[in-house]
Amino acid sequence: MIDLKDVSYSYSGIKALSHIDLHISKGEAVVLMGPNGSGKSTLLKIINGIAVPDSGVYRFNGEEITQKKLQDTKFSKLFHQKIGFVFQNSEVQLFCPDVFDEIAFGPRQMGMSETQVQQRVDDCLELLSIQDLKHRQPYHLSGGEKRKVAIACVLALNPEVLTLDEPMNGLDPRTQRWLVEFLVRLNRAGKTLISSMHNLEMVQEISRRAVLFDENHTIVADCPTRDLLEDMDLLKKVNLVDEYYHKHDGSGHSHFHIHSSPFHED
Ligand SMILES: Nc1ncnc2c1ncn2[C@@H]1O[C@H](COP(=O)(O)OP(=O)(O)OP(=O)(O)O)[C@@H](O)[C@H]1O
Ligand SMILES: [Mg+2]
Repeated sequence: MIDLKDVSYSYSGIKALSHIDLHISKGEAVVLMGPNGSGKSTLLKIINGIAVPDSGVYRFNGEEITQKKLQDTKFSKLFHQKIGFVFQNSEVQLFCPDVFDEIAFGPRQMGMSETQVQQRVDDCLELLSIQDLKHRQPYHLSGGEKRKVAIACVLALNPEVLTLDEPMNGLDPRTQRWLVEFLVRLNRAGKTLISSMHNLEMVQEISRRAVLFDENHTIVADCPTRDLLEDMDLLKKVNLVDEYYHKHDGSGHSHFHIHSSPFHED
């Protein structure tokens, strides 16, 4: 479904991706991991056609995605209907006066009738349990509410692939747990999921496959998530765990080790 061959990308001379080979099949749940600046968001941009490779080839469902094709409105609409992107910062993707219009934007672009649009928006609001936000201004929502609205907007197009850039960032523990379970349900329902993430405790629940980047903007591991989480040397090398990372009963935990903390006797 998603196929990158020897893909490289730079932002006016700043290297972001170097010789990436990656194949993702329909129905997979894949997590992209790696240190800050290693290229995870850039890869998601390429997969979503927001950036095109400087060199190498990106194919979606067998078709090469090029700048020229993306400039073709008909092609671009069809492509963006099949693959949805929840940005690292949900703020940048919300621009309508209220949540209803925000979620309705995609379905309206697709040419659905207003009755169908209303039905679709209501379904999405219900799916994310955010019916009470229907008439709120997206701009004034909290971070977690914005993330849910952004996810609803993407799901409103019923895409085959859902890509999420650091979806857990800034969410409270209960909302994180809710989102983990929501993503697992979406994947079980057949959606292909690609998310970038730093939280080692959650990646295992969301994905069976982990793709790891290093500071050289290249893939250094592509393996079952469980195997990656057990490779402590590699995780340390790419800065995903620090020296205070412990393992208890086979699962990892990171702890604050401020020995002088008044709240903690070590
Ligand atoms: N718009 C841009 N202009 C210039 N350089 C950029 C731009 N976006 C990203 N970069 C650079 O490209 C490299 C890869 O960035 P990217 O955002 O893909 O990393 P990331 O793995 O998503 O990092 P993080 O974990 O911090 O989100 C970094 O060196 C970054 O500084
Ligand atoms: Mg990023």
